[in-house]
Amino acid sequence: MTRVAQGPTLQDIQALEIAHVLQTYRRQPVAFVRGHGVHLYDAEGRAYLDFLSGIGVATLGHAHEGLAAALADQAATLLHTSNLFFHPLQGRVAAALSRLSGLERAFLCNSGTEANEACLKFARRYWRAQGVTDRTDFVAFAHGFAGRSMGSLSVTWDEHYRTPFAPLVPGVTFVDPDRPEEVAAAVTGKTAAVIAEPIQGEGGVRPLPQATADAIRDACASTGTLFIADEVQCGLGRTGEYFHFPAVGLSPDLVAVGKALGSGMPVAAALVSARVASAIAFGDHGTTYGGNLLACRAALCFLDALEGGLLAHVKSVGALLGAELRALASRQPAIVDVRGKGLMWGLVLDRDAAPVVPAALARGLVVNRTDERVVRLLPPYIVTNADVHDGVARLEAALADVVGGPS
Ligand SMILES: Cc1ncc(COP(=O)(O)O)c(C=O)c1O
Repeated sequence: MTRVAQGPTLQDIQALEIAHVLQTYRRQPVAFVRGHGVHLYDAEGRAYLDFLSGIGVATLGHAHEGLAAALADQAATLLHTSNLFFHPLQGRVAAALSRLSGLERAFLCNSGTEANEACLKFARRYWRAQGVTDRTDFVAFAHGFAGRSMGSLSVTWDEHYRTPFAPLVPGVTFVDPDRPEEVAAAVTGKTAAVIAEPIQGEGGVRPLPQATADAIRDACASTGTLFIADEVQCGLGRTGEYFHFPAVGLSPDLVAVGKALGSGMPVAAALVSARVASAIAFGDHGTTYGGNLLACRAALCFLDALEGGLLAHVKSVGALLGAELRALASRQPAIVDVRGKGLMWGLVLDRDAAPVVPAALARGLVVNRTDERVVRLLPPYIVTNADVHDGVARLEAALADVVGGPS
């Protein structure tokens, strides 16, 4: 291919990284150097349709004019002052998140991991504030993912992530989400909180079964246990609704959000009910960067767009994507299940899905593989109906390249 892009080649970029960057990621051999809308462009100038949005992050697409202008304006005005002082944007972000979620207060932080970490700490703090010192345990779910810090890793299921870092936070019980009858026994008088993703993301796009959601609701109600909804991946419009917890009849005391919120700027939040908020005192938790002006400016840009029509768009284009994926599954026998909602989908294959990722890249499509056999799609919210047709056609061709069948 003729190289049209200026700047370092893929080989230059790879060599420098491999020499100096701690090797914790097994990357695809592609270096993206710019983006526009739903498209990414690599160092060789090749265009890709982005159906992953940086793992559910670039909701407004790439190089979004309004976001770029807002960030440039904010950078030229004031970036950061710390949480020692007030600034005009953090309260606006918290108010918007409260309006959308129904939870009264927000703690602004920088990542989904930090949002979950804050939720776990606030849950323990709640019980201690009641004078209860032995409600420190957590109930989490098989296939769940909450992050890689010691606390959030402790409620993350995958043994590959956990074992090298043992011992983790004690007192975590994992329940199989397909065994709702086990929830009641796992939630005891020592449980501080139950944590669950209403739709599991990293675990393979697995919606929480309704019977399990019912069992969580009942167990929390009968024991007073707090419920933490980890909506870092499935929340803030990803499913075509502001949040997924109402769809399964859950009323969380705490909600973790991230990813979508900054559309590429690192910003996340722990949303807290009035009951839990009343137990949190000055100095209980903190962060230097969390909720700084630049991050909040990005969040406001995203939240304005979401409330200003983008959510309705996700709902309609998401319905088309779901229908197209189901139609694809009816033509491609290697697809054994299609799971998800809105713009969050997993195609479950009858085999390891890893080879589909490079095959899709070769067809100019960005997707990823999670939980071994699942091809995951998390397109930007601005994706159009035409992009959906294009993306599904590319995916069908990539699947045919890997497993055979119609392309
Ligand atoms: C449901 C869920 N919770 C938490 C996290 C951790 O978020 P982050 O990578 O921003 O720390 C993720 C990331 O994939 C996630 O999907």
